[in-house]
Amino acid sequence: MHSLDGFARSKLAALEAGGLRRSLIRTRRLAGPWVERAGKTCLSFSCNDYLNLTHHPDVVAAARQAITDYGTGAGASRLVTGDHPLMEALETRLARFKGAEAACVFATGYAANTGTIPVFVGKGDRVLVDARAHACIWAGAKLSDAEVLTYRHNDLDHLESLLRQPATGASLIITEGVFSMDGDRAPIGEIAALAGRYGAWLMTDDAHGVGVLAEGRGSNALFPAARIDLQMGTLSKALASSGGYVCGSKAAIDLIKTRARSFVYSTGLPPASASAALAALEVIEARPELCALPLAKASLLTRAANLPEAESAIVPIILGEPQTALDAQAALEAEGFLVVAIRPPTVAAGTSRLRIAVTSGHPDADIERLGAALRKLAS
Ligand SMILES: Cc1ncc(COP(=O)(O)O)c(C=O)c1O
Repeated sequence: MHSLDGFARSKLAALEAGGLRRSLIRTRRLAGPWVERAGKTCLSFSCNDYLNLTHHPDVVAAARQAITDYGTGAGASRLVTGDHPLMEALETRLARFKGAEAACVFATGYAANTGTIPVFVGKGDRVLVDARAHACIWAGAKLSDAEVLTYRHNDLDHLESLLRQPATGASLIITEGVFSMDGDRAPIGEIAALAGRYGAWLMTDDAHGVGVLAEGRGSNALFPAARIDLQMGTLSKALASSGGYVCGSKAAIDLIKTRARSFVYSTGLPPASASAALAALEVIEARPELCALPLAKASLLTRAANLPEAESAIVPIILGEPQTALDAQAALEAEGFLVVAIRPPTVAAGTSRLRIAVTSGHPDADIERLGAALRKLAS
């Protein structure tokens, strides 16, 4: 039997050979969408800070003040160390923002999904998940011990055919509002109607919709009549902070707070993260015109690059093999654009791509220039 180090080396070599090894590259984020990498300033299209609020003076000041007032870390699980008043303020604000009775904040969005799903389904139940859902939704579904059924991406007929199959326990449908790697949107209204017809529960993950769609309120706000039992989201993208949340009925949230393992057995969000997210929410609620910019600018890019019209701030360019995507990344980097290649297993084999995230701060002239560079790549 070879050593653990030997095992790691051979795994890395195999990944390298397939163009699938990942590595961290030192990159300093500057204000707005710019970054510094290897001594060069680049315009980044690979960051989910959709409204560039991570450097907004009010958001930075709020985080600083929270550190001054309360220190840097939460110290323990919120159930153990005592709940910080900032958490209550953030949860109350998030619930109001999402039109729900209550909210629960987790240390990450990943923890929100892996913790929440097993609270509501388990052995004997079933989870119906869109094929392109995020890794942490799959992780939560698997952890739950429920039967996991995959429906073809945004395919309502397939979802209905699965719902029609007899079930003994509860059924939970999970979809993203905006799909993180494809940038397209889920037909939430129709999915909610199916959930109602078949007595299923519906959970949405709107990590990439908040701050961008429906004047910043997210994908679900596009479907005001839809009944959505659990609205999950993250503080780490347009909300310019770190952490995740779930909104729902008061009882659902109370149950999460007493049963979700990633909540109960994990240290709470640092006060500065809560404070930054609160300040970002303030900006989002006050400035709907700012929230309209990422989609408007993504549409400018899709027009300039001759691509299908953008549905969100995310524009995918599907290229196929990992090396093709890596080569395209390198070609764009030479022109001053940081557009990171996304490869399996983040996306399906044969669909390696450039994933372009457009923010409110990208200058129109640079978007046009990127569009021209993408047209050149395609020719
Ligand atoms: C759709 C989706 N859900 C959940 C997450 C996890 O959120 P976080 O980064 O806050 O852990 C992400 C992050 O990439 C995501 O894209």
